Amino acid sequence: ALVGGLGAGALGGYFFGKKQGESAAEKYEKYWPRKIMMLFGAPGAGKGTQGPKIVDTLDIPQLSTGDMLREAVAAKTEVGKKAQAVMASGGLVSDEIVIGIIADRIKQPDCQSGFILDGFPRTLAQAQALDAMLAKNGEAVSLIVEFSVDPAVLEERICGRWMHKASGRSYHVKFTPPKSMKVGADGKVVPESMKDDLTGEALYQRSDDTAEALKTRLDAYKNQTLPILEHYKDKGIVKKVDGGKDIKDVWTEVQAKLVSK
Ligand code: AP5
Repeated sequence: ALVGGLGAGALGGYFFGKKQGESAAEKYEKYWPRKIMMLFGAPGAGKGTQGPKIVDTLDIPQLSTGDMLREAVAAKTEVGKKAQAVMASGGLVSDEIVIGIIADRIKQPDCQSGFILDGFPRTLAQAQALDAMLAKNGEAVSLIVEFSVDPAVLEERICGRWMHKASGRSYHVKFTPPKSMKVGADGKVVPESMKDDLTGEALYQRSDDTAEALKTRLDAYKNQTLPILEHYKDKGIVKKVDGGKDIKDVWTEVQAKLVSK
């Protein structure tokens, strides 16, 4: 009855339009704004843990300036040489370097439908530079997911973290231990037993994941990064999630914030 109720012309037009015109995906790429989102939170708040789940859901890349800088350090590039010492101490790399890195990265084809910024911007100057870059194309940041976590839990999270270099997967000795983890008679984890679940490759601890460097990182977050939220507050794009919950419960909250309303 439904089909009968629709005029042949309407149906024909519908199918004709589908056949001759752009596909839904092509229209999306052409006319819809890109999802330009930011993961915001203190060191250990859960940006690197939740980010890959957003990547899987939205099919847009996660751009972590921390990962990019660590790659530059490992590859001993000019940028890496400049960044190495300041990163190990927990300080911030210069605005000029990270703005340059992001400006190049967001021009890559995989950012065509959008991207997730992780660890950038970290200063007001970086936020203003980002706004200016996007404004050139009539664009702006569309969503900021703020992970709110009691600072008291951050040290345990950071000092218990182990990473897989190639994939960026992170584990935690208490909250998300790798299957291979063994604990010695002294109650400490056996470093050689820390292997990636998927590849079996060795895990490592970041040089800035110490209680001492964390103090500097938290100071930088409080004094230089938090003011960015104020900068974006009036745009109504900041959505807060309780990052202190279990990883899966945080993800449930994040998913709800991804939906455009
Ligand atoms: P970066 O790599 O960006 O580090 P960060 O901001 O300090 O963030 P983290 O990676 O430590 O935290 P996260 O929120 O991703 O935590 P995760 O999810 O892994 O930056 C490093 C350095 O690079 C900076 O200090 C600076 O020097 C430089 N840099 C980078 N960007 C820069 C910029 N724009 N400007 C200037 N300098 C820049 O979680 C941590 C642990 O907790 C994991 O083990 C995880 O398994 C566990 N965990 C996560 N969520 C939960 C949960 N809900 N419950 C229990 N455990 C959890």
